[in-house]
Formats: sequence, structure tokens, C-alpha cells
Amino acid sequence: MEHYLNRLLESRGWHFISYCLLLIILAGCNSGQAPKAYSQTVLSEVALPQPRLSSSISLEEALLKRRSLREYSPRPPELAEVSQLLWAAQGITGKDYPFRTAPSAGATYPLETWLVVGTITGLEPGVYHYKIASHSLEFAKRGDFREALSNASVFQQHVKLAPATIVLTAVYERTTERYGTRGGMYVYMEAGHVGQNICLQAEALGLGTVPVGAVDEQAVAEILGITGSNQVPVYIFPFGHKP
Ligand SMILES: Cc1cc2nc3c(=O)[nH]c(=O)nc-3n(C[C@H](O)[C@H](O)[C@H](O)COP(=O)(O)O)c2cc1C
Repeated sequence: MEHYLNRLLESRGWHFISYCLLLIILAGCNSGQAPKAYSQTVLSEVALPQPRLSSSISLEEALLKRRSLREYSPRPPELAEVSQLLWAAQGITGKDYPFRTAPSAGATYPLETWLVVGTITGLEPGVYHYKIASHSLEFAKRGDFREALSNASVFQQHVKLAPATIVLTAVYERTTERYGTRGGMYVYMEAGHVGQNICLQAEALGLGTVPVGAVDEQAVAEILGITGSNQVPVYIFPFGHKP
């Protein structure tokens, strides 16, 4: 054991060991349930199809082809495609601890994922919250909020025209409580990781998206129904089939 520890220390150093210890302590403190950051009536819960773990397109091809898409075919994406995008964004991939598809500073997971639906096969128009632990959607609000979301994004037309939009919100305290003000930057770095996962997964599905940072936080919070909660909208991703 001592020999093993010495070898580990030589090869990786104290920082790596302390980071592992921190994650083990964290795993003990946190049972893996995502903390509820809002209190909202859930109209119903929609089970999502299991994500596929293979693709006909390589990672390199997806990287090569990815381009921001601002025009979409009127053909509605399928529920399976939505499931795949949400899983790529924040799905659980850890075996012993609920680590996710995207890295997170100290596994603090400050981001929540929402879906504003206009036309998706198998989903009513409305606002949905992605429940990561069960890979399902909580139906939070009924109605087509795409125009309102477009108005809240400095009237960007692609937000109105896209069949649906993924919205990332942040609960900053989850990360800043541990890392102080630098934690605020970590939240944005993480949103970038999640965003790239969404972009590449969209490409692999033959869909397209565009990262949209120009949003009025308060107006988007109103659409989601999270005004007054500790969640702040950060980044949105309208998506759809290529025209
Ligand atoms: C942080 C960030 C914010 C962005 N905000 C917007 C936006 O509000 N509206 C928009 O149409 N595109 C937005 N974009 C997309 C960029 O315009 C786009 O990535 C850039 O033109 C490069 O093109 P490409 O994505 O096709 O490579 C944003 C991209 C990033 C990374």
C-alpha cells in the first residue's frame, strides 16, 4: 500500500491526490440527487428514450462539419433526437458517482437544463425542465413561448423560427460556495463545455444549432417560470433540422 501510494505521488503529485480525496468526500456528502433549484408545479413527467451510444459519423467529422445554423427545416425533430441532445448536454455517464458528459469544477454541477418547445414530435408546446437523474422531462408550462424567447434574445429571428431551444441556467452558489469569485468563471467555462457537446451532438444527428449568448436574463427567467429563484439563464441553443 505504502509502495503504491509513493508511486502514485511520484507520478501524479499531491494536487491530484487531494482532488481525488475531495471527490470521494463529495460523493459521501451528496447522494447524487440533483438539488432542486426552483419550486414549480410539474404538470406531468415525460420519459425520454434511452440515448444511443454509437453514431454513423465520427467525432472528427462532426468537428469538421459543425457550423452555427440559423435557418431550420419545418420538419419537427423527434423525441429521440431531443433525448440525445439533452443527454449530450448533461446526461449521467458515471458508474459509481453521477458524473456527467461534460466536466464540472469539483463536480459541483451548477447548470440546469431547460427546453422551450414549439414543434417536437411527441411533445406538447411548452417549457420543460430536464431531470438528469431519471433522464426525463418535467412539463412545467403549457404554450408556445418561442416568440417571447426570441424577444428576450434581442429579437433574434432564429430563436422564433427554431422548432425548440435548449436553455442553460446557472445556480452560481453551487460552485462559488467552494471556489469563491473564481467559481463564477468556472460556471461559464462549464456552460462552454456543455454548449460544445450540444453543438457536436446536433451535428452527429444531422441537426443544427447556434449558441446564443445575447439574452435578457430576467425575461428568459419569466418564460421559464423561475423568477425569484436562485437560477439565472446563461446560454441558449435553438435547434432544428437543416433546411
Ligand atoms: C459565447 C457565444 C455567444 C454567441 N452569441 C450569439 C448570439 O447571440 N447570436 C448568434 O446568432 N450567434 C451567437 N454566437 C455564435 C457565433 O456568432 C458563431 O459561433 C461565430 O460566428 C462562428 O461561427 P460558427 O459557429 O459557425 O463557427 C455566439 C457564440 C458564442 C461562443
